[in-house]
Amino acid sequence: MAFRVALNFEDGVTRFINCPATDTVADASYRAGINIPIDCRDGACGTCKVFCESGKYDGGSYIEDALTDEEAAKGFALTCQMRPKSDLVLRVPVPSSACKTGPVKQKAVMEVVNKLSPTTISFTLKLTEPVKFLPGQYVNIEVPGTGQYRAYSFSSAPGADIASFLIRNIPGGLMSTFIASQAKPGDEVNFIGPSGSFFLREIARPVLMLAGGTGLAPMLSMLAYMEANPPAQKVHLVYGVTNDEDLVETAALDEFAAKIPGFTWEACIANPASAYPRKGYVTQHLLPEHINGGDVDVYLCGPPAMVEAVRKYFTDTGVTPVSFHYEKFNPSSPSDKAA
Ligand SMILES: Cc1cc2nc3c(=O)[nH]c(=O)nc-3n(C[C@H](O)[C@H](O)[C@H](O)COP(=O)(O)OP(=O)(O)OC[C@H]3O[C@@H](n4cnc5c(N)ncnc54)[C@H](O)[C@@H]3O)c2cc1C
Ligand code: FES
Repeated sequence: MAFRVALNFEDGVTRFINCPATDTVADASYRAGINIPIDCRDGACGTCKVFCESGKYDGGSYIEDALTDEEAAKGFALTCQMRPKSDLVLRVPVPSSACKTGPVKQKAVMEVVNKLSPTTISFTLKLTEPVKFLPGQYVNIEVPGTGQYRAYSFSSAPGADIASFLIRNIPGGLMSTFIASQAKPGDEVNFIGPSGSFFLREIARPVLMLAGGTGLAPMLSMLAYMEANPPAQKVHLVYGVTNDEDLVETAALDEFAAKIPGFTWEACIANPASAYPRKGYVTQHLLPEHINGGDVDVYLCGPPAMVEAVRKYFTDTGVTPVSFHYEKFNPSSPSDKAA
């Protein structure tokens, strides 16, 4: 039986390989043309050390010089020794280029463009083969005919032959203008990826998701994954937007709440003039039960100012969550060819 191993490199690029239970991850990587760092191949030097973000494996045999008991207990492992017992996500501490690999270029066809509100648009791409990524990751999509790329987080689950995205319609923005006024079913679209270290880890404790605006996209992808792989822990989402018209996909969130055991969500609108019952910023709606005394995994995504405000909130309150993952939707630079 072969398992799927995601190799997440230091530069955010992720490559997927198949690794039979009988093979080491290093052997499977080399067979796939990915030269992950390796030296002795014998569990003696430690060159091939990685961190296992999720999954089960047999760590094999090695000496203390290569991997200490303390490191092994924390989740570090040696790829020349480890054999998977489940799908794995491994953090490889070098850039993808050092392993003679990089992000994969793919072609897709625009399937649906859906204007959800004056400020927010969703679109779906049809792919030639199921797209592999970790829920929460993004791809760089080319604005057709321009050679310019913009980063967008998947809002759909991995492994399907369609991929969905949720984008803010920035007036005058290159991709925004294309999607809002030109894109039509059948358009050919190129993208590169997947990338990013903002992805759902194994759910071992309560999860708190904080989304600002279209920062909801990666949360939707994680929730779609959870629908197929129900978590044994509580998951709560606080979704903050600026104005009423920015609040989208609420029916999808209600559906996830009906289908995913332990999942709850609430939204808030910052504009004081809104008639929405919950107003203000996401941090104003965080209750002690959501923070769970710090025994919580936090996933935070949105515009840079919102992400910084939430990070400051946690610093100021002195609560350190067990893990804190965030993604800032930074604007691209005009010269972004393939960020
Ligand atoms: C890792 C990553 C993932 C991302 N995922 C998403 C996603 O899922 N959904 C999404 O909507 N966006 C996402 N973004 C942002 C996205 O990549 C683009 O920057 C954004 O869509 C604007 O692209 P554009 O071509 O329409 O505008 P551009 O032509 O790039 O910009 C036009 C003008 O608008 C300004 N601008 C750009 N972004 C904003 C903004 N948010 N608010 C105000 N002004 C802005 C620019 O500085 C520029 O002056 C992500 C960014 C990163 C880094
Ligand atoms: S290559 Fe030396 S320990 Fe794996």
